[in-house]
Amino acid sequence: MSLDRLPTPAPVVDLDVLERNLARMALRAQQAGLALRPHAKTHKTLQIARLQLAEGAIGLTVAKTAEAEVYAGAGFEDLFVAYPVVGVGKPERLLAVARRAKLAVGVDSVEGARALGVPFAAAGMRLRVRIEIDCGQRRTGVRPEDAASLAREVSALPGLELEGVFTHGGHAYEATSDAERGARAGEEAALVATAAAAIREVGLACPVVSLGSTPTLEGLGDAMGGAGVTEARPGNYVFHDATQVALGSCTLEDCALSVLATVVSVPAPDRAVLDAGSKALAADGRRPTPDGHGIVVGTRSRVARLSEEHGVVAVAPGDAFHVGQRVRVVPNHACVVSNLHDVLYAVRRGEVEEGWPVAARGRVE
Ligand SMILES: Cc1ncc(COP(=O)(O)O)c(C=O)c1O
Repeated sequence: MSLDRLPTPAPVVDLDVLERNLARMALRAQQAGLALRPHAKTHKTLQIARLQLAEGAIGLTVAKTAEAEVYAGAGFEDLFVAYPVVGVGKPERLLAVARRAKLAVGVDSVEGARALGVPFAAAGMRLRVRIEIDCGQRRTGVRPEDAASLAREVSALPGLELEGVFTHGGHAYEATSDAERGARAGEEAALVATAAAAIREVGLACPVVSLGSTPTLEGLGDAMGGAGVTEARPGNYVFHDATQVALGSCTLEDCALSVLATVVSVPAPDRAVLDAGSKALAADGRRPTPDGHGIVVGTRSRVARLSEEHGVVAVAPGDAFHVGQRVRVVPNHACVVSNLHDVLYAVRRGEVEEGWPVAARGRVE
């Protein structure tokens, strides 16, 4: 089917760009001497995950137990849940996943780790766990200096096997220059490697040292090598988005995901309205600095305001829109856009080649 016939709003993946992004990150990881375990949160599809494995990824990262269930159910054999899984029923569900796939799970507390181990111990199995290190994002994770004591306690618990450490340089999303982004990439690598070294000093094995975010890996991959890091977990790089463009992690031409939309109203010369609102584009602001809700491809205009079903474009001088015109919008945050749609349309040179169900969308548990 021609792209011209696709009903809007619709999320569209440019296959040429996607394939280039996949190959480039695979090469970057290889050159940096890192195993690649991409975070599937960005696409949530089985098809792109398979392309990532075909490009040499050793397995997948997911955030949620329910996402691990989707991928294990589809035959993916090596999964890491990069999240401190805590909650009723979750350890038992992870045990079911671990019977089908090689599984590791993040921990950042003794209480959480202890609960995870219970059903595994009862089943005579051990769950691989990785201690989360906070390298500056101030979200989850222990400080590097607290890693060894938590590692000791976790290693003593039944039903668990300490596999390593992981961190996410999410604070790079606030970097306002390449130098700052580079500094945060350096912190990410140094602090997770320091934590691993401290764990080894108390006599425990720590074979996996995992990090990753798109802004810290894009263009900076070589800096990771040699620092004692073993694995990279970028997610957003498959699609990129307006935030990555603003951060300098990529150019607009590297953005593989856009939302195809139709101009439904041009009520004033400086205003055009699209049929893509927050339900299609997501309401996330651009980082590191706010600038509307998406780039209208081929123009200088931005989606300036959103309501649920309306995307209000502030028409830049020199741009003109007409009712019925179809435009593509590069969103601020690709990962949340895929979560809003049932299907991603894979497009090459104006033809829709396939519709990829977003198999792991909405898996909030
Ligand atoms: C724990 C963790 N690891 C890896 C990633 C991938 O980061 P990015 O999407 O910046 O590539 C994320 C993204 O949110 C994450 O939370």
